[in-house]
Amino acid sequence: MFIFGGSGDLNFRKLSPALYNLFLDNYLPNRFAIVGIGRSDYSDETYRERLLEGIQQFSRRKDQANGDWQKFAEHVFYLQMDAGDAAAYQKIPDYVQQKEAEWDLSANVIFYLAVAPQLFPEIATKLGALPMCANRQCVRIVIEKPFGHDLKSAQALNQLLGQLFTEEQIYRIDHYLGKETVQNILALRFANALFEPLWNRNYIEHVQITAAETVGVEGRGGYYEHAGALRDMVQNHILQLLCMVAMEAPVSFDANEIRNKKVDVLKAIRRIPKDEVRDYAVRGQYSEGWMKGKEVKGYRQEEGVKPNSPVDTFAAVKFFIDNWRWQHVPFYVRSGKYLHEKTTVITIQFRQAPHYAFPAEAAETWRPNRLIISIQPDMDIRLRFQAKRPGQSMTLNPVDMVFSYKDAYDGQEPEAYETLLLDVMAGNATLFMRADQVEAAWDVIMPILEAWEKRPPIDFPNYAPDSWGPEDAEALIAQDGHHWVTLPK
Ligand code: BG6
Repeated sequence: MFIFGGSGDLNFRKLSPALYNLFLDNYLPNRFAIVGIGRSDYSDETYRERLLEGIQQFSRRKDQANGDWQKFAEHVFYLQMDAGDAAAYQKIPDYVQQKEAEWDLSANVIFYLAVAPQLFPEIATKLGALPMCANRQCVRIVIEKPFGHDLKSAQALNQLLGQLFTEEQIYRIDHYLGKETVQNILALRFANALFEPLWNRNYIEHVQITAAETVGVEGRGGYYEHAGALRDMVQNHILQLLCMVAMEAPVSFDANEIRNKKVDVLKAIRRIPKDEVRDYAVRGQYSEGWMKGKEVKGYRQEEGVKPNSPVDTFAAVKFFIDNWRWQHVPFYVRSGKYLHEKTTVITIQFRQAPHYAFPAEAAETWRPNRLIISIQPDMDIRLRFQAKRPGQSMTLNPVDMVFSYKDAYDGQEPEAYETLLLDVMAGNATLFMRADQVEAAWDVIMPILEAWEKRPPIDFPNYAPDSWGPEDAEALIAQDGHHWVTLPK
């Protein structure tokens, strides 16, 4: 596995800890090499030391970080190379050949592009020109997000990759799909007879997806200025969650079967007319203020950010899906930085029972049924329903039936990157984005992006850190008689 961006942050925080965990769990073969590629000056030895620091800081097994480290480190190498230097790419086949001779086998090769998106085309082109890459299924290329900046650039990147690699060789990563609870949405929906009969417009009133973060842009102002919350979170992670909730039942767990069903959802999402974006989408940007007792800068004061930046650090959208299952059911989604809580949660709100037969005074606490799927940090699924409160009167109260991962299963669940890296090695693309999926997702958000670009915000910054975002986001859902659901802590 060659990791471009080998000295970068993603590798340090996520990829190396994930690979080390796979090693500890005996998922890696006896013969493997992980080669970090970067411009910084490291020897194999100093590179290994650097990665160990990352593992000690970020691995879910910090305490075991030193355990089998030496054994793992023997498989880790560093190749200093400028990704812009075409001649340097010859080092890669030379390296592979040397390993193949040493191991006496033909190697599977993975290229992981953990670099700034501007470098994707150049690196992919130079790799594609290597004879070892041409149509070899044992060569795979992993592309990190963001995949494109808009529909046009995503199409161009897909076209370029399509000329260099076959679709089966390309793995477009969305790390949310590797999260245990996200995968569990499929199990919940399609391995149980209980939920699916109710999973449609006849019983579901609306769906909410919140992906809230308590961090700001954390020194990534330069990147974020070209992204914003809609591009950074909604186009990919949130639309993927929405697809998992809304897709039809797959016939099998085949990668293309699952992805076809998701693409169907993306195609059916109603495109918001550009002149009506105001009624469907809300943007926000955080001001300076206090976050959990700590004073924090406003977005416009962050390094690399323009003092009058129009970039959204919060986005909320109301989507509709025009198909038989979901006609007229709103899907409200929101995501933002410096919000009150770190939480990713999906709420399925069911329609009220058709007739209310209880004493009038009980009506006040009468609530609709909700299925609440917490993705993180708590991993649980709760079904909220009405129960009789003990006592002489018929008083109703909403109560929760809870399945908690922590209580049900011992041990730690794998991190998203562990699952996804193993899938790349095994050649399983189910949890990766196909070309048409990425493009369809861009197509969904393009009207919003274009309308926002055309009409710069006049009220930024418009929310304080540690809040739930701008007031308009509350209004977006309140105008339909609902409110955002947050779980009591
Ligand atoms: C990344 C975004 O894709 O997802 C970040 O670029 C965001 O801005 C991160 O912080 C959130 O991921 P998670 O797994 O912490 O919810």
